[in-house]
Amino acid sequence: MTTSASTFRGRGPELVEGRAHMARSGIRAFMDLAWSAGEVIHLEVGEPNFPTPPHVVEAAHRAAQEGWTKYVANAGVPALRAAIAEKLRSRNRITGAAPEDVVVTAGGAEGLYASLLAIVEAGQGVLVPDPGWPNFRMIATVLGAQAQPYRLRPEDGFQPSLDEFERAATPATRAVIVNSPSNPLGTVLERDRAEAIVEWAARRKLWLVSDECYDELAYVPGSPSLASLADAAHVVSCFSFSKTYAMTGWRVGYVYAARSDLIELVTKLQEPILACVNAPAQAAAIAALSGPQEVVAEMRDAYRRRRDAAVSLFRADGVPVVQPAGAFYLWVDVSEWRPDDWTFAEELLSEGRVAVAPGSAFGAAGAGCLRISLATEESALLEGCERILAQLGTPALRRSRG
Ligand SMILES: Cc1ncc(COP(=O)(O)O)c(C=O)c1O
Repeated sequence: MTTSASTFRGRGPELVEGRAHMARSGIRAFMDLAWSAGEVIHLEVGEPNFPTPPHVVEAAHRAAQEGWTKYVANAGVPALRAAIAEKLRSRNRITGAAPEDVVVTAGGAEGLYASLLAIVEAGQGVLVPDPGWPNFRMIATVLGAQAQPYRLRPEDGFQPSLDEFERAATPATRAVIVNSPSNPLGTVLERDRAEAIVEWAARRKLWLVSDECYDELAYVPGSPSLASLADAAHVVSCFSFSKTYAMTGWRVGYVYAARSDLIELVTKLQEPILACVNAPAQAAAIAALSGPQEVVAEMRDAYRRRRDAAVSLFRADGVPVVQPAGAFYLWVDVSEWRPDDWTFAEELLSEGRVAVAPGSAFGAAGAGCLRISLATEESALLEGCERILAQLGTPALRRSRG
């Protein structure tokens, strides 16, 4: 006889209510729908369509053969911490970065989680971008903290603003999360704004968590790493190998902070979470940083070409779209035609055979918008965009179809 979990409901120990009712990421929900929908064009996933570079795969293979198959230090293997510190100094201009300021994490996701675990208690507040990556809100929920959304407004170029921080903050606020380049908007923080945010958080005695997981996928120069700015001791920076090197499945990222007490605590917290990051994946990450970087430039150029082609398609039909300055997403405003983005995304999947992420998955401010991933092969991407426009019935297409 088989028993399902529901057979026990009400008769056994209970789950933690707050966590059981946590809203799951709408992106993941749509990924599941799309995978079960058969032949569709996938524009919902934020995952490079490129393979991990062969020299990176080879390094992991060799490491496993050479015996990198045991536990390693919680904070990461010394050679990787050193390579990361050098990358932070040379590419992110964080001049004082040293290996002991770095913790290797299981992707940016776990780096963010461990960092927030170290600085936010249950009942406290975390300012999160709206629209913003859903995991920020989910982490706050898991910690029993309150996600406090701050609006990113189109009339302000979707830049985080101190006025919006002040509007969202309460005396319980303990940290603010800033994400540049942004998922889902593709916007990149301007230098003046970055300086003002670092100064504001310091004055308010808040931690500033800087999610820079797309740091090497910027199409414009000049966006600084927040930790490179003056008086950034309260900044905790989270980075990832996932997007830069097409390494989403390897699960390697890192946290940097100038505060040694914070780094020590994140290192200690890795113990109950995962002990340490998988050793061959760390060997792969060393190869990614120390090997040829042209692969990164090639992928970035491909995303830029796709961005230009897709933006032109939407603009030709008069559909408002944010031209991303970084990351690999298009933020398309379909509210004039279809204000209910969730229903429209479902319709796109069932009738248009194209999967996108509905804007409201990224927060209330995302209503009426869609997020389209550019990390898809170009002809499929453009066909997917055409299908979205056809489903919207926008003017140029109607004209071209007679
Ligand atoms: C804004 C943002 N931060 C962090 C991550 C974490 O990525 P990973 O855990 O693969 O490094 C993602 C992944 O989609 C993201 O979009």
